[in-house]
Amino acid sequence: MADTNTPPDARTEAPLLEIRGLRIGFPRPDGPPLVVVDGVDLSIRQGEILGLVGESGSGKSMLALAAMGLVPAPGYVMAGDIRLDGRDLVTLSEREWQKVRGRTLGMVFQDPMTGLNPVRSVGALLGESVRRHQKVGPEEAAAISEAALKAVGIPAARERLAAFPHQLSGGLRQRVMIALALVNRPRVIIADEPTTALDATIQAQILDLLRDRLHEAGGLMITHDLGVAAEICDRIAVIYHGRIVETGRTRDVLAAPRHPYTAGLLAAVPRFHGRGTRLIPIRGAPPGPVSERVECSFRPRCAKAAPECAAAPALEAIAPGRSVACHHPVAAAPAREDAQ
Ligand SMILES: Nc1ncnc2c1ncn2[C@@H]1O[C@H](COP(=O)(O)OP(=O)(O)O)[C@@H](O)[C@H]1O
Ligand SMILES: [Mg+2]
Repeated sequence: MADTNTPPDARTEAPLLEIRGLRIGFPRPDGPPLVVVDGVDLSIRQGEILGLVGESGSGKSMLALAAMGLVPAPGYVMAGDIRLDGRDLVTLSEREWQKVRGRTLGMVFQDPMTGLNPVRSVGALLGESVRRHQKVGPEEAAAISEAALKAVGIPAARERLAAFPHQLSGGLRQRVMIALALVNRPRVIIADEPTTALDATIQAQILDLLRDRLHEAGGLMITHDLGVAAEICDRIAVIYHGRIVETGRTRDVLAAPRHPYTAGLLAAVPRFHGRGTRLIPIRGAPPGPVSERVECSFRPRCAKAAPECAAAPALEAIAPGRSVACHHPVAAAPAREDAQ
């Protein structure tokens, strides 16, 4: 039977969130600005979760904050476009941002205690956000708030509306943060290390919840843990020292990381130590922010460093949907190479 009614594959549609050439810097009194995000391109489609993975200090939070119009001063967006449904966000006024933030873009912050105002009850926090963005009265706002708590698996949701953040366990607080990010049904949800502060059992529950909720919109999942990204992300972008060094579908990246840094991150996740894979700890620490990049930032830590690495490599496509920024990428089939 000819199937002419199949809806177009959502993943072939134009991206919901598209970031092009994003640079974020911090001014210095004695020289050019320190660049903490240096020419990043990312896109997220409807129904897709993109993982942004990298060590602490690599620029993940700055990138997320830029997408929310919240880069902390004196930091600033030096260059680039951030488009949501084709609309440029970088040029929005603060007034316009207030309509976008919490409405079209939702964010789950790493630390629930900074993300949740401690002197407001859960019901007040949710209700205020609902009434800021939707034309509803207090009763309807309370009903929407209660439904939002139920949707993130909070038992006795109605009673919880009266609770204050400090009265809740870490896991419940993180659920409230997620409810707050989702309550106005945003088009894109950014989750910045949403499970870092939680113990393993609660982390697994929150990841399950995020997997479902982020797939209903478009999601950017930020983590330093490649294992967490592997759990819920469709695609992965690995960030190192403010630049994307590798992107690809999660299963492709995990099966055969091509950047030596990605291979090192993978080796640090115990459950990925499969047969034939070597444990390659990443030695040393990432460099601090610089004004001007010359060599490959990973060169001082890289076992494969060669003279060419004195010039920073560009991110280049190596297969459809797969890119790597490395002069000497890891072989496409590392397990076989290791077996020799
Ligand atoms: N106020 C600041 N002045 C200068 N550099 C800063 C400032 N705040 C953050 N940075 C630098 O920006 C870089 C990226 O930070 P961040 O985005 O928070 O990293 P991540 O979220 O990946 O851990 C870090 O090197 C950090 O030192
Ligand atoms: Mg961070």
